Amino acid sequence: MTIIAEMKNIVILISGGGSNMQAIAQAALRHRWAERLGARIATVISNRPEAKGLTLAANMGLPTEVVDHLAFADRPDPRTAFDDVLRQAIDAHQPTLVVLAGFMRILTPGFVVHYEGRLMNIHPSLLPAFPGLDTHARAIQAGCWFAGATVHLVTTELDHGPILAQAVVPVLSDDTAASLAARVLTQEHRLYPQAIEQWLMQQD
Ligand code: GAR
Repeated sequence: MTIIAEMKNIVILISGGGSNMQAIAQAALRHRWAERLGARIATVISNRPEAKGLTLAANMGLPTEVVDHLAFADRPDPRTAFDDVLRQAIDAHQPTLVVLAGFMRILTPGFVVHYEGRLMNIHPSLLPAFPGLDTHARAIQAGCWFAGATVHLVTTELDHGPILAQAVVPVLSDDTAASLAARVLTQEHRLYPQAIEQWLMQQD
């Protein structure tokens, strides 16, 4: 068996900017995940061909793939058709871990169950508060003093599942959704690589 075949493959799914993906890829290099943990980022997959994160990934020398969800729009069950093709693309890499990094599609229960225990997500709120969209505007609207981000394992219930790590930031009196999002995102870039590294260290 070759060394490559023994590597723990990480597949990262993105939809847009890809800054979390980039932070994870940088941490993998800086903290020598290949040598220390036998882990590598096998590929970065986007459901949007125009996602900026694809360029970031390519610039870092990472393989990239696109499974465009719009290509399945006219199928009788577009979500399942998309998830089936996405799953095939992911499974081609025999992943130890699938990382959702700003992946903005709701996955079907069958997909989630297939990756049970090895599907991780970052959500820009202190779960269980504010699942779903517009988390920062909702935190400001609710008068929260603190906001943050949560890394969790994905279960069939949206933005639920065992919490692996959280980061907390203050909500300032003059915050807009954008300024709060930027403060949270900075913490996400620290939090997500740490949580992944810890998870990898707990694997055989
Ligand atoms: C991040 O803030 C992430 O937490 C959020 O999207 C952003 C992606 O940024 N994810 C979700 O809202 C998932 N429900 P990035 O593409 O620059 O990493």
